[in-house]
Amino acid sequence: MSGVLIVEDESKLLRLLELSLTEDGFSVYPAASAEDGLSRLGHNAIDLVITDLKLPGMNGLEFLQAIKRVNATIPVIVMTAYGTVETAVEAMKSGASDYVLKPFSLEEMKLIVRKELDIRRLREENRSLREALGQRYTFRNIIAMSSRMQEVLATVSRVAPTNSTVLLGGESGVGKDLIARALHEHSRRASGPFVKINCTAIPENLLESELFGFEKGAFTGAITAKPGKFELADKGTIFLDEIGDVPPAIQVKLLGVLQERQFERLGGTKTLKVDVRLVAATNRDLRAALEQGTFREDLYYRLNVVPINIPALRERKEDIPYLVDHFIQRFAQEAGKPIKGITPAGLSLLTSFHWPGNVRELENIIERTVALLTREIIDAEDISLDISPPKATTGPVTFLPEGITLEQWEDEMIKEALRRTNGNKSQAARLLGLSRNALRYRLSKMGLSDEDNRE
Ligand SMILES: Nc1ncnc2c1ncn2[C@@H]1O[C@H](COP(=O)(O)OP(=O)(O)OP(=O)(O)O)[C@@H](O)[C@H]1O
Ligand SMILES: [Mg+2]
Repeated sequence: MSGVLIVEDESKLLRLLELSLTEDGFSVYPAASAEDGLSRLGHNAIDLVITDLKLPGMNGLEFLQAIKRVNATIPVIVMTAYGTVETAVEAMKSGASDYVLKPFSLEEMKLIVRKELDIRRLREENRSLREALGQRYTFRNIIAMSSRMQEVLATVSRVAPTNSTVLLGGESGVGKDLIARALHEHSRRASGPFVKINCTAIPENLLESELFGFEKGAFTGAITAKPGKFELADKGTIFLDEIGDVPPAIQVKLLGVLQERQFERLGGTKTLKVDVRLVAATNRDLRAALEQGTFREDLYYRLNVVPINIPALRERKEDIPYLVDHFIQRFAQEAGKPIKGITPAGLSLLTSFHWPGNVRELENIIERTVALLTREIIDAEDISLDISPPKATTGPVTFLPEGITLEQWEDEMIKEALRRTNGNKSQAARLLGLSRNALRYRLSKMGLSDEDNRE
């Protein structure tokens, strides 16, 4: 039931409109003054306003503007007794949807009310339809049929147009790069640059000049000045991949840029201002890095404005058949092979796998399978799953002994490190890959105070 507010100081006309529209099934809110009308507008579910242009206390056009301030999209039909088209035109310019000249028939008014409500409804349907379509289809090259990925994309479409910093989390190969690019492509900066830096790939001593640039003579070998990635990303998006691996000295500088949006080149004195949107990604748990003291807390909170966590592929197996199709099509086309698809047995093999390397691993396996395939359809026997990417850890991966929790295991490792280093905490920390502070924190949690171990 649509709510209609009628503002009219002539009580007979007000009453007439009220009765007639109520009879037609509208919820009618009558008001005798602009003030009364505004207060009803603020407190009731109103879909349309009918108002006289000549009201006591407030000029009709002022009233119209006041309505639009409360609700900019609400249709307003104005009634004017003067019969002068000029007044009506003024009202239309100020945002009225339509007008009726007094005297009018009730039928005429009802017709206009219905038309305006129809237009409004259509417009709203359109918008929600567009939104629904947008969430599913406008992300080129991203397969996201699972509800978990739909949630991710819903967040992406909501935050993409803003300038908020986004922190992407998720295991290796889940699609963090893809989402970072989607954020850029769907932002107002889409026509600007998208600059990606892999923080692990660049040695620590080069990372700073890479990010912030340097002036001529800043260090030996700096023959000419060079702008850094932050400067290159001006009016665009900068994507810092593997942010968890940024060394402390550069963390401080990043924090400065995030706070002030300005920085200096290495060896430079001029302060440079940039307009960049930052997207960062990590496949590590940054909270653990905080606890270990390897990542600054203040930087973490600056980065973690909008966290988007992309679930592992094994947590959204519904996506697998669609991803498989997508990759088969792509690689078959690239290889120029007439591959029709995959058998149910083949698909079931792929769906039941746990995909430690996530989408990237699936993509690699399909590419390989397509390359080697001599038939037109992929079957289970064509797929070899044991090419999982080598883990970064060396030696065979064993698991926790029966009945031991991860925490207990870690405690054992810490005690072992102390034993091996004769209780030297600095050395033990190094052995464990922890900072001195992180180790001290862990020891106090284990109930081992400082005195129990020598430095
Ligand atoms: N939802 C998806 N739809 C289509 N392709 C995908 C999807 N997710 C990931 N991919 C593809 O999988 C590969 C790995 O994705 P991406 O590089 O974005 O992962 P990542 O999370 O950045 O990994 P890493 O942590 O190792 O950097 C890419 O080739 C990407 O195109
Ligand atoms: Mg990546």
